[in-house]
Amino acid sequence: MRDFLIAPSLLSADFARLVDGIRDVTAAGADWIHLDVMDNHYVPNLTVGPLVCSAIRPHTSVPIDVHLMTMPVDSLVVSFAEAGANTISFHPEASLHVHRTIELIKASGARVGLALNPATPLAVLDHVIERLDVVLVMSVNPGFGGQSFIPETLDKLRILRELVDATMQRTGRPLLIEVDGGVKVSNIAQIAAAGADVFVAGSAVFGADDYAQAIGGMRDELEQVNEDNEGADALAVAR
Ligand code: DX5
Ligand code: ZN
Repeated sequence: MRDFLIAPSLLSADFARLVDGIRDVTAAGADWIHLDVMDNHYVPNLTVGPLVCSAIRPHTSVPIDVHLMTMPVDSLVVSFAEAGANTISFHPEASLHVHRTIELIKASGARVGLALNPATPLAVLDHVIERLDVVLVMSVNPGFGGQSFIPETLDKLRILRELVDATMQRTGRPLLIEVDGGVKVSNIAQIAAAGADVFVAGSAVFGADDYAQAIGGMRDELEQVNEDNEGADALAVAR
């Protein structure tokens, strides 16, 4: 039985009513709030910085999951940690010294995530995976909400699941697989079965009329995945 987490992305929220959006998704059962930070350099879009992170911090009790799509990375880490970010993820292509950035995030007191673009191979995890708290698998190219899930991500997730399980066995520390991009009620079960623990959903939550219904619909699908897995385990034991 896996604990699945749902992380609505504020990218699809109404930025003129950001605090209402945060309160509403928190009340609707969000496990984390995902904050997409874009710099119009690493990605062709521009969003928010640490000021907005600290402004929203008092309005939710759930962890804030900062996804840095910025280049460089290091100069923003301490500001986001001080602004209340619980997890800070970054893209290896955006940092000259990936190991140094990981250590910088850990020293800031935040959990650390490495974000892998659709074409970024899992090999970037070599030599650093034991230091991570999260592997953020991008299932769209970063920069915009509302894109379609890239199906090749499923194979990547299956391989990563084995790698992460083996790593957790070695270290005894939790390591989460987070998926970001194109996650919907209609595909979340397939993504979970392939190995994900945390599901970022922007348009699928904020585009819905009823956030609780959208998140609840995802949870129902995830529960079914756990039930199917239990059934399969029981069958394996019986054999
Ligand atoms: C894309 C962002 C995602 C995005 C997901 O660069 O990292 O977090 O908001 O949006 P949806 O769920 O609409 O694909
Ligand atoms: Zn994101």
